[in-house]
Amino acid sequence: MSQELWTAVDKYLEKVLMLPDPALDAAREASAAAGLPEIAVTPSQGKLLYLLARMVRARRILEIGTLGGYSTIWLGRALPPRGRVVTLEADPRHFEVARENIKRAGLAKVVNQRLGIALETLPRLAEEGAGPFDFVFIDADKESSVEYFEWALRLSRPGAAILVDNVIRDGEVADPQTTEERVLGIRRLNEVLAQEPRVSATTIQTVGSKGYDGFTLALVGGG
Ligand code: SAH
Ligand code: DHB
Ligand code: MG
Repeated sequence: MSQELWTAVDKYLEKVLMLPDPALDAAREASAAAGLPEIAVTPSQGKLLYLLARMVRARRILEIGTLGGYSTIWLGRALPPRGRVVTLEADPRHFEVARENIKRAGLAKVVNQRLGIALETLPRLAEEGAGPFDFVFIDADKESSVEYFEWALRLSRPGAAILVDNVIRDGEVADPQTTEERVLGIRRLNEVLAQEPRVSATTIQTVGSKGYDGFTLALVGGG
């Protein structure tokens, strides 16, 4: 089992299951051309975000970590008329590239981009009375995963889904000796999830063109 095989299978799945998609392809190409890190969700993962958002009938979506807006476009497309995505990004260059990509995808009116450090933007969203959100995608700096999760919980309604990206990191998450801050951030999140009665959560490991990683999915409302 190897990265080459995982990548080949992702390519195969994209070819057989996904229609050509000019706006998404352009978003990926423009992001790469602008020198953004190539760490957006894969097409199959993007479609998973879209399906999960539709499954909870999301009208308000919060995303933490926009990058070039690739995942944002998938989430924006999951919305019914008058639905909204609020997406948070700290890097002005990423923010600008995302703005063009989102505009090209016809979602400029649906997506509300906020430039700034998410831990500063989130309290402002709360003050504004933004939300409650039906779906939250946490995909920014992993060090702050616990704080993002707590904000997601505070800003979401019962029945909402919270999805966290990059929670396995080549399996390093299971290493109790790890000193990597990003991995420690996820380990702290797991401790919080384990004793948080307001959510029911599971973590699924994934392989694919982005390597060996995983998602945590939490349903607000416990059980
Ligand atoms: N969700 C995107 C990928 C996000 S990559 C997709 O799948 O298409 C992570 C992003 O989080 C990067 O753009 C990075 O600049 C941003 N980020 C990192 N730390 C942040 C912070 N403290 N506040 C807001 N954004 C942050
Ligand atoms: C990284 C960040 C991500 O959000 C991701 O999906 C993959 C990698 C990173 O910072 O390396
Ligand atoms: Mg990610």
